[in-house]
Amino acid sequence: MNDDVKRYIYSALMVFLVGVMIWVAIVFVNACGFSLNCQRGSTLPETTPVPTLIPATMPAMQMDAAPAAASDSCEVAATDLIGAWVEAGSPESDTFQFTDTAGVTCETTFEEVLPLFTRANLWYSGSMSCASCHSVNLAVSPAQLDMSSYEGILAGSRRADEASTGTDILGGGKWTSSLLYQFIAESQDVPGHDAALSASLTVHAGMPVPETETTP
Ligand code: HEC
Repeated sequence: MNDDVKRYIYSALMVFLVGVMIWVAIVFVNACGFSLNCQRGSTLPETTPVPTLIPATMPAMQMDAAPAAASDSCEVAATDLIGAWVEAGSPESDTFQFTDTAGVTCETTFEEVLPLFTRANLWYSGSMSCASCHSVNLAVSPAQLDMSSYEGILAGSRRADEASTGTDILGGGKWTSSLLYQFIAESQDVPGHDAALSASLTVHAGMPVPETETTP
């Protein structure tokens, strides 16, 4: 064999090897980019049927859990909430218990009862607040009743002046026979009470009483 043929064979081999290397490089860069720690080989993250949607990691919500989570407030009919407060002896700052619509025993304070008397647009759409009629000013307040504060409510109706107390509207702690119950839950022949205030109004109030372990 002469040298010319040898050179042709060697150069053909070189061209072939360089071509193979370029091809491998192109395939690598195409797949991994100009990086040596290629992620393509690592296991795929777990996905949902939607490929780009990573499955949630939070525990699923328990719909059948009997006691509501501690952060959940109780739901109760407004009249039942006021009634429970009255039956508990109308405490000013002590907690009182009530049973919510799900039958769970809950507790709250008067703080969550007062807004039922001072907030407008509550009992029905466009309703006036009780305190807007039954204001602190007894001279203009119907039935000389002040529904705007704890003291006013406890002082009662038909008061001679700011210093005196009048008729107990809380029925001496008997809710269904109280004037307050009658003027909220039953319709009366006076302005502001001509239709029974929605007895179906439910509100969120209080927290479930933590269950105590009962010994067998
Ligand atoms: C539009 C004004 C108005 C609004 C609002 C109103 N009341 Fe009255 N309320 C009256 C009038 C008028 C009377 C009857 C006064 C009378 O008989 O001299 C009355 C009477 C009462 C009485 C009876 C007092 C008694 O000794 O006879 C109670 C209790 C009472 N209201 C509570 C409430 C509560 C609670 C609310 C809110 C849910 C409320 N009122 C909202 C006007 C209003």
